[in-house]
Amino acid sequence: MGTAMTTPAEVVTRPGGEWLLAGHPVARIGYGAMQLAERPGRPPVDADDAIALLHRALELGVTHIDTAEFYGHGTANELIRRAFGDTDEVVIVSKVGADRVDAPVRLVAAQKPNELRASVEANLKSLGRERIAVVNLRRADAQPGIIASGDQIVNLDDQLAELSALRDEGLIGAFGLSNVSLEQLQQALPSGLACVQNSYSLVERSGERMLDLCRANDIAWAPFFPLGSAFPGRPKVVEQPAVIEAARQLGVTPSQVGLAWLLQHGPNMLLIAGTSSIAHLEQNVAVGDIKLSDEIMVALDAVSAN
Ligand SMILES: NC(=O)c1ccc[n+]([C@@H]2O[C@H](COP(=O)([O-])OP(=O)(O)OC[C@H]3O[C@@H](n4cnc5c(N)ncnc54)[C@H](OP(=O)(O)O)[C@@H]3O)[C@@H](O)[C@H]2O)c1
Repeated sequence: MGTAMTTPAEVVTRPGGEWLLAGHPVARIGYGAMQLAERPGRPPVDADDAIALLHRALELGVTHIDTAEFYGHGTANELIRRAFGDTDEVVIVSKVGADRVDAPVRLVAAQKPNELRASVEANLKSLGRERIAVVNLRRADAQPGIIASGDQIVNLDDQLAELSALRDEGLIGAFGLSNVSLEQLQQALPSGLACVQNSYSLVERSGERMLDLCRANDIAWAPFFPLGSAFPGRPKVVEQPAVIEAARQLGVTPSQVGLAWLLQHGPNMLLIAGTSSIAHLEQNVAVGDIKLSDEIMVALDAVSAN
């Protein structure tokens, strides 16, 4: 009596389990939309195919979509708007801190507080929403990507004040950080962060202490380049011998091993692997059902030392 009953029909299975992201329950397996707008070395994805992929993602239980206004100068956001409208079923995480100029060619830093605000407004417009659930501040102090110089070197506290104001005004639900150092993460903790998005994978483990700090503070860790990216010349998770061997033993793909390791490595890990292929998306969502043995985890943990 008085106890809420859950009938089997109400039990929702979310790929990879669930995480409360800025108050929204999301599947730990999400989706990164950059490949829909920018595929290094390959032609752009057809818009209808991109929308079909986004619909398939939701059908598979993906409820967390990572994007940015600067992915194709609004292209990724507009595809997301066309696919989902403004439904709350999908939690959108966008980012600010850079802009496209000479559209859609050149990416430049846009780190000043007024530029962060303008970028939130541009995101709201292209996404067709009155509020963005989460916005990450993408810092440009270190590789990969553009490095801020001159008046684009902006004090983090000034940026956090602007993001807090945007949150108070209700234009964004919450904010996080991207491409930050441990010191910057510590500095920002009192502002209340929803997530951190740094480059991190089996071949890029430099964020380990930040991941621990996020876990201790119930902050999601949603790494970019979880497979090592689509950019040529960067180390790739799927090329690691230990990953290939684990995939062989388990009868899954090397990409799935790399993503399964991430999921198993931290309870606050959210996946936003990027793909332009529905078949790859389906494989990536299926990672939630892969269990890596302790022995395989140890072998994979050693990859970073290679
Ligand atoms: N905050 C930041 O600075 C920042 C920077 C970069 C990216 N991001 C975000 O992070 C997301 C993920 O990063 P990312 O897309 O650059 O790199 P990624 O997820 O590490 O790798 C994407 C590459 O992996 C391939 N791939 C994905 N699933 C696969 C599978 N099952 N089998 C084989 N290949 C597979 C994709 O090719 P196919 O298209 O052929 O599947 C693509 O070439 C982005 O989409 C974006 O939302 C954020």
